[in-house]
Amino acid sequence: MRREHWSGKLAFILAASGSAIGLGNLWKFPYITYDNGGGLFILVYLTCIVLIGFPMMISEIGLGKLSERNPVGAFAKFAGAHSSYRYVGALGVISAFLILSYYSVVAGWSLEYCLKALVGEFRAIPYEVKKELLEREATQVQLRKQALKEFLGRQLTDEERQRLMLDARLISEGSYPAQEIANLFQRLNKEQLISHLEKNKRALYWENYFFAKMKEQKDYLSWENKLLLPLYSTQLFENFLGNKIRVIFWHLVFMALTFLIIIRGIKGGIERSVRVFMPLLFLLVLILMVNSLMLDKEQEAVRFMLSGEPKKLKPNSILEALGHAFFTLSLGMGAMMTYGSYMSKSSDVIRDAIWVVVMDTLIALMACLMIFPIIFVYGMSPSQGIGILFTTLPLELQKFPLGGFLTLLFYLLVFIAALTSSISLMEVPVSYLVDEWKYSRAKATSLVFFSAFLLGIPSALSVDQFLTWADRIASNLFLPLGGFFITLFIGYRVQPELLKAEFTAFHYPLWLFYFYKFSMRYLTPFLMLLVAGHLVYALFY
Ligand code: PHE
Repeated sequence: MRREHWSGKLAFILAASGSAIGLGNLWKFPYITYDNGGGLFILVYLTCIVLIGFPMMISEIGLGKLSERNPVGAFAKFAGAHSSYRYVGALGVISAFLILSYYSVVAGWSLEYCLKALVGEFRAIPYEVKKELLEREATQVQLRKQALKEFLGRQLTDEERQRLMLDARLISEGSYPAQEIANLFQRLNKEQLISHLEKNKRALYWENYFFAKMKEQKDYLSWENKLLLPLYSTQLFENFLGNKIRVIFWHLVFMALTFLIIIRGIKGGIERSVRVFMPLLFLLVLILMVNSLMLDKEQEAVRFMLSGEPKKLKPNSILEALGHAFFTLSLGMGAMMTYGSYMSKSSDVIRDAIWVVVMDTLIALMACLMIFPIIFVYGMSPSQGIGILFTTLPLELQKFPLGGFLTLLFYLLVFIAALTSSISLMEVPVSYLVDEWKYSRAKATSLVFFSAFLLGIPSALSVDQFLTWADRIASNLFLPLGGFFITLFIGYRVQPELLKAEFTAFHYPLWLFYFYKFSMRYLTPFLMLLVAGHLVYALFY
């Protein structure tokens, strides 16, 4: 059968950007950027994208275009049917399959949350839940501690101040003029005062004291609500994850949607869906970003991204940036190769690679501008793993005018970004089965659908264990290892000259080709080995 082709250059760019732009951009990038102090880290990341990501993108798309095969077939075509390089292709197919299995689970959560937003579940805490939350010891402890912390900043009587400082052993017994106490108190750091109280075992007394006072305040109920809401949304998320049937159900729905697109083939399935979804995705990111930036009166997010806290940048951060550049561009596992294999002979690989890399980077930066203001203004910590998208964010979005609607848009965005990535993941094993095993598209797609669904079930049942590990193995080990072998293949086996015509045919300057060659031969293999080695090291030490 003749191989299907994209109908034009836009189709390929949309599909490949759709693959690249995914959960990695919306969640992982803002999260690691924050963790690594912004500013300088972004610079390191951009450098990785230019030096490693862009050349790798050219390689993968190019290998696909020239071979018109799935990853296994592509290596076999250039290296011979019995070359061990076929296993590199096989590793890619396995990685795609593994990532698909758990990616669909997380994407399924976004569907549940679209529904939750639609019925307005985040708006207020139901009475029953509130009662139950208040009965918990942990909640009470938190309320008391918070009361102490906040009350120290409110109006206190002179006598209270003196007793507090006595209990913290910051002054000794005796009489002090009120003014002196007030001055001393002013200069005190609240955190220190609390830790002194704790050391002298007087914290609990004051917690109870201020909590009782807090209860007499007019704004007590809204104060309590503010503290209970995060507990409530965490509980919502945990309850949902605990409801295994529901999690598996959404995983099935999402996988089925992916299946329905892939079974229709390149033009009728992938292309048709990305033509609708990608413009929508850009629009959603734009709306949510503008909304967040309007909240950020001090422009803290922008400042953080331009300067940030360079001290937080550790040597490991560089490897993290490198690993993420790979994951976010869907490199190292043959997705770009597979999409490239449906390109027409006259397409411009270099230009398309630039487009995909630029689009992906743009969305990653926009995602930061969308999420950081929320983090800064409400003072939450984003270092909570993937859960942050599902616990803190919906609450914060809720506070905006039209909050419920924004929340819905947000989960719609997560869903679309995940869908256009997961179709590229499913296409890899499907094209492998069609090319190499001569399966019909329908049979291949059904087989991948069922088996990836089954493999996803352990991830659905155990997020902390299985899903986290599957992600770590795939994105920190398989992808860089795949990338390492792909560069060895290009750099030393077939030689970068294989792709030279892609540069010359469209009159790109020669130095660009030499830069590409240098990256493939020296830079990328070395760095990819470091990334993979780092995970192995982290596993054992
Ligand atoms: N690039 C996607 C993201 O950023 C993930 C992905 C990896 C998709 C590998 C396909 C292949 O979320």
